[in-house]
Amino acid sequence: MRQGELTEARDAESEFDDFGPRPGYREPPPCRLDDDFGALAVVLADQVVGNVGWHWVRWGPSAGSRNPMIGIWLEGSARGLGVGTQAQRLLVDLVFRHTVANRVEAHTDVHNHAEQRALEKAGFTQEGVIRGAQWRDGAHRDGFLYSVLRSEWSPNDAQR
Ligand SMILES: CC(C)(COP(=O)(O)OP(=O)(O)OC[C@H]1O[C@@H](n2cnc3c(N)ncnc32)[C@H](O)[C@@H]1OP(=O)(O)O)[C@@H](O)C(=O)NCCC(=O)NCCS
Repeated sequence: MRQGELTEARDAESEFDDFGPRPGYREPPPCRLDDDFGALAVVLADQVVGNVGWHWVRWGPSAGSRNPMIGIWLEGSARGLGVGTQAQRLLVDLVFRHTVANRVEAHTDVHNHAEQRALEKAGFTQEGVIRGAQWRDGAHRDGFLYSVLRSEWSPNDAQR
């Protein structure tokens, strides 16, 4: 993963990537893991093939209850090669190495079997259904919430 190389392109190849109009950008801003949101490029054979991002969510009033929720998009040619699993593993590892977060979350549509499998292979556990929370492709969709806890992670997990 590399910083500052995000593609602007979003393709319509995946129904799980149609979030409606979003603000565009010209230069990806530099980001830090503890920024409210940010993203890193996914690089395969020296080509940018997608991005992994995060935004911080909060389960209580104190800073100790903050954790990042991660997301990913890969272009079609990079899917099914294990890249999504590895990129999400590497982002989890970055979070646990460089922040005090106790947990990393991810959320994906109940029908997005590829991402569910990629998250499970990356070490996440499915926690339950979040109903009607995500507006995507013209409707509010149900999704599964996933997490991995710091106590479940070891540095070796990043290289599996
Ligand atoms: C979802 C995504 C990140 C997964 O990354 P990937 O590199 O394609 O996935 P991987 O190759 O690491 O692993 C995918 C696993 O899911 C499985 N899989 C793929 N498509 C599947 C499907 N339609 N149904 C069930 N399993 C599927 C693969 O077989 C593999 O599991 P296995 O190794 O046990 O065989 C990627 O496909 C993508 O960017 N999709 C479009 C955007 C998106 O959906 N992002 C997530 C939004 S929450």
